[in-house]
Amino acid sequence: MPEIYRKQPGDNHWIREDLIKTFGSAYIISTGREYNNAQDLDGFIAREADNIAGVLLFSYNTDECELVYLHVLEEGKGIAKMLIKALIDHLQGLNVSRLIVVTTNDNIPALKLYQQTGFRMTKIYPNAMEKVRAKKPMVPRIGHFGIPLRDMIEFEYQWP
Ligand SMILES: CC(C)(COP(=O)(O)OP(=O)(O)OC[C@H]1O[C@@H](n2cnc3c(N)ncnc32)[C@H](O)[C@@H]1OP(=O)(O)O)[C@@H](O)C(=O)NCCC(=O)NCCS
Repeated sequence: MPEIYRKQPGDNHWIREDLIKTFGSAYIISTGREYNNAQDLDGFIAREADNIAGVLLFSYNTDECELVYLHVLEEGKGIAKMLIKALIDHLQGLNVSRLIVVTTNDNIPALKLYQQTGFRMTKIYPNAMEKVRAKKPMVPRIGHFGIPLRDMIEFEYQWP
């Protein structure tokens, strides 16, 4: 059973490498927000035995939070759901009324995951990846399952 803990400053180095491996850079562009050096954001880590099993990064201001990055190294074991639960439990103790997450049209595992964990699709940004590619040319044109990587989809958590 993985253990979830709050990210420590000592995690920043490997998270930066993980961001570069997963998204080509530690610079994350979302819908209207950009995160330079995303490894410095607050977050939760999943660890199993002595191995890192997943990481979730988030950013919040007074009443709005964005789940900025989620990467699980051993997929299909419920680790992403555990990390999302840790974030939601954390936000319940704060005054945050809005929690959003953005993914892309091709990311079927993420589209499934967010709908399974209480988020609803609230906005679609057609062709948003073109603007991202202007700043991050390494972003591929073809994504998961051979699907053209074109649009951003914003989800908002529906508080029960
Ligand atoms: C999306 C991601 C975070 C899911 O993590 P996970 O720990 O495997 O997810 P969970 O096990 O908690 O559960 C999510 C569901 O998606 C399924 N799933 C996970 N990875 C999958 C994959 N590659 N293909 C198909 N289904 C997948 C799981 O089986 C589970 O479904 P179930 O409950 O019906 O069995 C993970 O695939 C990942 O790190 N992807 C790469 C980075 C990424 O795209 N992050 C999201 C960016 S917004």
